[in-house]
Amino acid sequence: MKQSKIIGLGHYVPQNVVTNDDLSKIIDTNNEWIVERTGIHERRWFEPGVDTNANMGTKAAQMAIERAGIDVKEIDFIVFATITPDYFFPGSGVLMQRELGLQGIGALDIRNACSGFIYALSIADQFIKTSMYKTILVVGAEIQSSALDKSDAGRSSSVIFADGAGAAVLQATDAQSGILSTHLHADGDFAEELYVKDPGSSRTVRLSPELIESGSFNLHMNGNAVFKHAVVRFQEVIMEALAHNKLDKSDIDLLIPHQANLRISSFIQQQLTLPDEKVFNNIMHYGNTTAASIPIAMSEAWGKGLIKEGDLICLAAFGSGFTWASALIRW
Ligand code: UT7
Repeated sequence: MKQSKIIGLGHYVPQNVVTNDDLSKIIDTNNEWIVERTGIHERRWFEPGVDTNANMGTKAAQMAIERAGIDVKEIDFIVFATITPDYFFPGSGVLMQRELGLQGIGALDIRNACSGFIYALSIADQFIKTSMYKTILVVGAEIQSSALDKSDAGRSSSVIFADGAGAAVLQATDAQSGILSTHLHADGDFAEELYVKDPGSSRTVRLSPELIESGSFNLHMNGNAVFKHAVVRFQEVIMEALAHNKLDKSDIDLLIPHQANLRISSFIQQQLTLPDEKVFNNIMHYGNTTAASIPIAMSEAWGKGLIKEGDLICLAAFGSGFTWASALIRW
């Protein structure tokens, strides 16, 4: 059976840097609270008219393809993870496919929020393992800033979420390295703890002045509930991946957790007794970019030379759904 190897990684973040001080000018918050509770110093918010969900994905993909040293035409399938597509439908996968000039190949959209990139990676891995496709582009891209309630009422979410895109090129290999396993979970009992309710389809009219007035199209998060579940599920799903591969937490060379909150990452690091150099965080600069956070972090870590041949890389995520997931990769 073939294995899937990540041969290139790329990312793109909007030029527009929003600092904590910038936020404190529009909502009742302050740098000290945000840094202490989330670890975030600044984030990127898209520039209307410049950035779109699909074209941020395209830019990340182009970087990944260039770093992989392949021709774009070698890509035979696309998996695009996002919960903030440019259109209600079709998904961003086909829009990015068009921008890359890859019309004709399959393009699949994944809506699993913060776990979306790992779900996408898992699907791409299954297609490669069964030899259906050879070279797959996997992208995570989000524009969350336009769904944030930027009034005082929404301050606990609006200081966290941000925009960006990351991409990975997966290719079939006969080597024993590559993606060792992926582990996917969900529990719909908690669907409304972190969600955007409208414009939902189960209404006579999807948009109305009353709906707009109610703010139900903004992101709603019960931060405390999400936090409590996240710290448990992150550890569980990492241990599940290690046990599946008969490996120990001490075998991990680099853990790249979804960048949800620096306190969550630090808590997992403590639970797993991993030293600082074995956990990669960049939430300080980019905030929480949902499905884009893991590929942006992986791309940065790889660019900095922190991921080397033979390393054991662990990815883990938790988010809306609730969904949670992990992946172990032998680089
Ligand atoms: O991406 C995956 C899913 N998302 C996550 O994993 C996020 C998980 N949750 C969290 O990261 C945290 O729950 C938050 C960062 C969202 C909130 O932090 P918290 O420590 O849980 O704060 P809290 O909501 O319990 O609020 C504590 C206090 C409250 O004031 P009182 O009632 O104690 O007087 C809030 O009103 O902090 C206040 N507060 C703020 N103050 C200044 C909430 N947001 C802010 C803010 N600035 N932005």
